Amino acid sequence: MTKRFGSLLALDDVSLILDPGTFHALLGENGAGKSTLVKCVMGYHNAERGEVLLDGVAQSIRTPRHAHALGIGMVYQHFTLVPQMTVAENLLLARPDLPLLIDWASESARLREFIKDMPFKLDLAAPVSSLAAGERQKVEILKQLYLGCRILFLDEPTSVLTPSEADEVLSLLHRMTLAGQISVLIITHKFREVMAFAADVTVLRRARVAGSGTTRDLGPKQLAGMMVGSVELPGPAERVANPRGSERLRMQALCALNDKGHQAVDDVSLTVHSGEIVGVAGVSGNGQAELVEVLAGQRVATAGRLFVHGEAYTPTRTQMLRHKIACLPEEPLRNACVPGMSVADNLIMKKFDQPGYTIGRGFLNRRAASSFAMELIRRYRIHTSSPDTLARTLSGGNVQRMALARELSGDIEVLIAANPCFGLDFAATASIRAELMQARNQGAAILLVSEDLDELFELADTIVVMFNGKIVYKTLRADADLSVVGSHMAGH
Ligand SMILES: Nc1ncnc2c1ncn2[C@@H]1O[C@H](COP(=O)(O)OP(=O)(O)OP(=O)(O)O)[C@@H](O)[C@H]1O
Ligand SMILES: [Mg+2]
Repeated sequence: MTKRFGSLLALDDVSLILDPGTFHALLGENGAGKSTLVKCVMGYHNAERGEVLLDGVAQSIRTPRHAHALGIGMVYQHFTLVPQMTVAENLLLARPDLPLLIDWASESARLREFIKDMPFKLDLAAPVSSLAAGERQKVEILKQLYLGCRILFLDEPTSVLTPSEADEVLSLLHRMTLAGQISVLIITHKFREVMAFAADVTVLRRARVAGSGTTRDLGPKQLAGMMVGSVELPGPAERVANPRGSERLRMQALCALNDKGHQAVDDVSLTVHSGEIVGVAGVSGNGQAELVEVLAGQRVATAGRLFVHGEAYTPTRTQMLRHKIACLPEEPLRNACVPGMSVADNLIMKKFDQPGYTIGRGFLNRRAASSFAMELIRRYRIHTSSPDTLARTLSGGNVQRMALARELSGDIEVLIAANPCFGLDFAATASIRAELMQARNQGAAILLVSEDLDELFELADTIVVMFNGKIVYKTLRADADLSVVGSHMAGH
């Protein structure tokens, strides 16, 4: 396969063989071309050159529907279900041959028959909105199987899942491959999952195949080396033992509602000091997202107060710039950038009206803006063909890097970060964690909300657990016990 986007070569003569009944991992740095490869096979993109052979027969797949008809399906990291509808309705909705009038009695009977043979059970009558993330991802997979897929592409399917949910879903699929029912090609940045479930592996690097083999022969270290093209891998962030300084950010009895109008943040009081990382652990959906939105000025608090340096604080752009507060919300493509604007314009968003970046009153100094953008693109290794590329065409991990570059550059006194390494490859993860640690070492106060306990145990000085909108547990990292934190996350 060879695929270009304008002047950017996204796939350069890439070949991959997926054997029947295998679990195959596709690895590579952010922007290596992984998603593009599977999208070309699925018919979302048309490759310039190359062909897809199915059981040895060349097929020209023009649309995803055509791919489905041939038995190829795809599961994404984000959900494609309709939350208001039931599991059964979602399954039926996916069918290309859905009749105008649905005979529910016979369709329900057929669905029950279908689910009987499935390796996992789900309540067909449950509304999708009532399901946890792991259950939803199972419905996504079930949907593909219901459509008769025997080849399943999964593009970072576990990023929204907790490690135990991910293990459950992946081992189900693994068992199905062993039984010869399906073949799986999975894109993931998690070496743990690769080593636990995949037998075969292909590594892409800068649009080309960097290597392939079996996980029996290739360990995480070798795979990582293939991904970045060198054997020198980034080490963990270095923590200097500076005692925490004065109070920087204080939340006092903060409350907020979620989009449905229910109490999501319930009486949260927390203090973050200079030189301290306070890690907020919790299973997603326990109010962390709403808390971050309140701190970022994207959601109104219904009660409580915020203080920075002991002064009352309202999260507006002016006050954030004045107090040097940076914010990395979740889902940066939705919450932290303008997809239809260029990479350069997104990077300059905090600076465009500041001295040095304006000419006269109100004109942007394009030259200064562009050299600032170029510098950040280089330093944060944002994979883009030019600063003028639209943000929405960046690969998932590169959108994240763009938002990080904008927020982490310059002086930071307070940083609020939510899952900052979500979707990043291992090298980018290591470098972002090192940046966070460095900001802390230099005296920044950091509130780090993360679903990744490894991340919190590596970075945080203090760990709190959020459950049902409340802070239910607090401990120093040095005294923290993984299983105790885990059980508080589960509400015990
Ligand atoms: N629709 C598009 N228009 C222009 N460029 C694109 C488009 N889709 C992808 N690209 C570019 O192609 C390259 C490969 O992107 P791709 O999404 O395949 O990366 P990836 O390996 O999946 O990365 P990640 O791990 O970050 O998801 C990137 O440089 C990206 O910016
Ligand atoms: Mg991708």
